[in-house]
Amino acid sequence: MNDLGSMPVEGRIATRRLGADASGLAEAARLLAGGELVAFPTETVYGLGADATDPSAVARIFAAKERPRFNPLIAHLPDAAAARAEGRFDAAASRLAEAFWPGPLTLVVPAHARTSVCDLARAGLPSLALRVPRSALAQDLLARVGRPVAAPSANRSGRVSPTSAAHVLGDLDGRVAAVLDGGATPVGLESTVIACLGGPPRLLRPGGLPREAIRAVLGTDILDAEADAAERPVGPGLLASHYAPRARVRLDAERIEPGEAALLFGPDTPPGCVEARATFNLSPQGDPAEAAAHLFAALRDLDASGASVIAVAPVPMSGLGEAINDRLRRAAAPR
Ligand code: TXA
Ligand code: MG
Repeated sequence: MNDLGSMPVEGRIATRRLGADASGLAEAARLLAGGELVAFPTETVYGLGADATDPSAVARIFAAKERPRFNPLIAHLPDAAAARAEGRFDAAASRLAEAFWPGPLTLVVPAHARTSVCDLARAGLPSLALRVPRSALAQDLLARVGRPVAAPSANRSGRVSPTSAAHVLGDLDGRVAAVLDGGATPVGLESTVIACLGGPPRLLRPGGLPREAIRAVLGTDILDAEADAAERPVGPGLLASHYAPRARVRLDAERIEPGEAALLFGPDTPPGCVEARATFNLSPQGDPAEAAAHLFAALRDLDASGASVIAVAPVPMSGLGEAINDRLRRAAAPR
């Protein structure tokens, strides 16, 4: 509380916490349709939603997150038919959409000339990122809104993505109209982003859909965007430093130094753990999916311990391990 009581403070609004029930959904949809910002859960992470057809609503996303305007947003739709109305799907995009929607996959495709997603949401690009989330709550909300909803992860730009309503409020309280509280998000990592822009599909961001599953559907390993810098689209999600906790992150720690916070994976405890300031084991059984679900909350918890270094034990690359390692590498990158 501050001395100003209920007087409006420039740039601050009272953020409401809405329940995951019919009245919470109805209110969230009403706010979105009215041009307000509402954070909502998907199966990956919480998104910061705005009506993607309304440039002033979309502008509020960039302001609330302090996100650079050259970084385009994902448009969320309740089903594949609604998504296909916004962009052009080649054979690979169609196969991927068929196999993995609804789910943790974002497809970047050429935008239709008649797309309803505004230029600002697309950062002026001729392409468009589309996603159909699997979360029932998100689908219900999107169906009620009846328009594409632009939604980046509901964190301040550069910080760790939120997997709970409390994380959202920690970053954005007073900057958004409401958060729809659907509990912890089950996947815990952002969607896998794949560009289907005519040539072979390219992996722009590893995420909640593992490479092995994509290979099984395409019949070949997917090419990385990094393999061809000239074709690589811009986007801070692809920048080196991202997902940054306050503490420095030290990767591939074989032992823990006194006073460090320890982020562990699997049954083996590295030497030095007894003198750690705090420890968090992402999955004592060594399950990458369980580890993914806990990763962002673990980074926040260990950061809150006050340690100046978070030492991270190695995590294998299989399954969701690729996306976990991608996020850890960015969290460790020089800022
Ligand atoms: O799981 C998720 O993907 C979450 C939930 C809320 O859906 N959203 C999310 O959005 O992670 P965001 O904005 O944090 O990350 C979207 C990524 C960014 O790296 C952005 O640069 C990229 O997708 N992107 C969006 N549109 C693009 C486009 N037209 N071409 C290339 N990359 C694009
Ligand atoms: Mg993000």
